[in-house]
Amino acid sequence: MSDLHVVILAAGKGRRMHSRVAKVLHRVGGRTLIGHALRVARTLDAASTTVVVGHLAEQVTAALAGEPGLHVVVQEAQLGTAHALLQTAPLFEGVAGRLLLLSGDVPLLRPETLRRVLDVHEASGAAATVLTATAVRPYGYGRIVRSGGRIARIVEERDASPAQRKIHEINAGLYVFDLAPLFPAIRQIAASNAQGEYYLTDLVGLYRRRRLVVETVVLPDTTEIRGINSRTELAEVAALVRQGKNEELMGSGVTIVDPATTYIDQDVEVGADTVIHPGVLLEGRTRIGAACEIHAGVRIVDSTIGDRVVVNNYCVITESTIAEGARVGPFAHIRPGSEIRHDARVGNFVELKKTVLGEGSKANHLTYLGDAVVGDHVNVGAGTITCNYDGVQKHQTVIEDGAFIGSDSQLVAPVRVGAGAYVAAGSSITKDVPPGALAIARGRQENKEGWADKLKKE
Ligand code: UD1
Ligand code: CA
Repeated sequence: MSDLHVVILAAGKGRRMHSRVAKVLHRVGGRTLIGHALRVARTLDAASTTVVVGHLAEQVTAALAGEPGLHVVVQEAQLGTAHALLQTAPLFEGVAGRLLLLSGDVPLLRPETLRRVLDVHEASGAAATVLTATAVRPYGYGRIVRSGGRIARIVEERDASPAQRKIHEINAGLYVFDLAPLFPAIRQIAASNAQGEYYLTDLVGLYRRRRLVVETVVLPDTTEIRGINSRTELAEVAALVRQGKNEELMGSGVTIVDPATTYIDQDVEVGADTVIHPGVLLEGRTRIGAACEIHAGVRIVDSTIGDRVVVNNYCVITESTIAEGARVGPFAHIRPGSEIRHDARVGNFVELKKTVLGEGSKANHLTYLGDAVVGDHVNVGAGTITCNYDGVQKHQTVIEDGAFIGSDSQLVAPVRVGAGAYVAAGSSITKDVPPGALAIARGRQENKEGWADKLKKE
């Protein structure tokens, strides 16, 4: 059993975000900030993982509901990072081992770095190990004050002297602590600083005065440990994440015509030889097969696309499945619960909702298919509409294999068109059509000979 315990701080007010959404629930690469922190923490196989929540605690707790085996501790008043960690003390009473502390607002951290800090901590026998970085612009971070080469203390930006502000080594906000001396020491920390908060960073000075060993691991730059405190930082970090994802996909054989305008969430998968044109958004748990062509302006959310699928310009596809060889768009709207099977065709200005379109079937122009099951090799003519809603309930339309629906027809659900049946153009179908039948449901045409000439004479 591992003796490593992970604590993630996520209780802060996040004032600089100016948001009613908790800071750690803002997203980068389609994943929440707290989701990023948890993901990297999970690579460690720790004995326990705890998140400290406080500001907007209910939101954050609800978002964490699906996480197995997670402890959530509430910090009622947000009195600083030391006070936040102190709230977990009851969990660690009489527990020996190490505690790794992370911030919930630092999403780029790599597993390798965590392991390195843990290794250094182990090898040095330190009571605390601090991750630091050399920053070109250290503004906003705590500064590492060294004496005789060793870390002496950490000074927050607001409490720093002009000389200390010139220090370029900054505190990443990630630490490994031995549990034994930790909580007694945290209880000694005072809130005598510019913000009147209990700073965890004060622990370093306190340890050094007691001659406890504090080690550091220094990163060459701040990219990986960038914290998100404002919307500007959110956008900057999101851009880095996006670039990383695009590079990863290109490295595995995906063509991205213009990476600068291509937005692919972290968890999306794309097969080799797929071409992604400018302005495409692939979101959530979307999976795209190999050798697909995704044209400009397409947005695909939580959907599965098979191999050799063509999605033409400006389609929106949500929570749906498109099988290999199918073609969709331009300007198609594929709404949740739709399934477009092998080699089917969905054309321009077609909307599908909770609809199966069978193998090789076509709905090429100006059509709405909702709550419908369309069999194989069906032709759905231009302007066909399933009337699935009676104002109270939704009803199903079934169109069996090989049927032909003439243009501008309405199918008033619940209704079934049998296999191989024909519906004449312009029909309003309100009764089931037997297999192989022709249904005509429209006013008969009457021609009045010579009528136009008569009108002119009058
Ligand atoms: C903190 C560090 C700073 C470091 C920087 C790195 C302190 C005092 N300062 O500053 O040295 O350079 O991180 O990113 O630790 N939190 C709580 N409860 C609170 C206050 C904060 O849970 O009462 C949480 C926040 O949600 C956040 C983390 O602690 O996840 C850090 O807090 P934040 O206010 O962002 O600290 P920084 O000013 O960034
Ligand atoms: Ca921060």
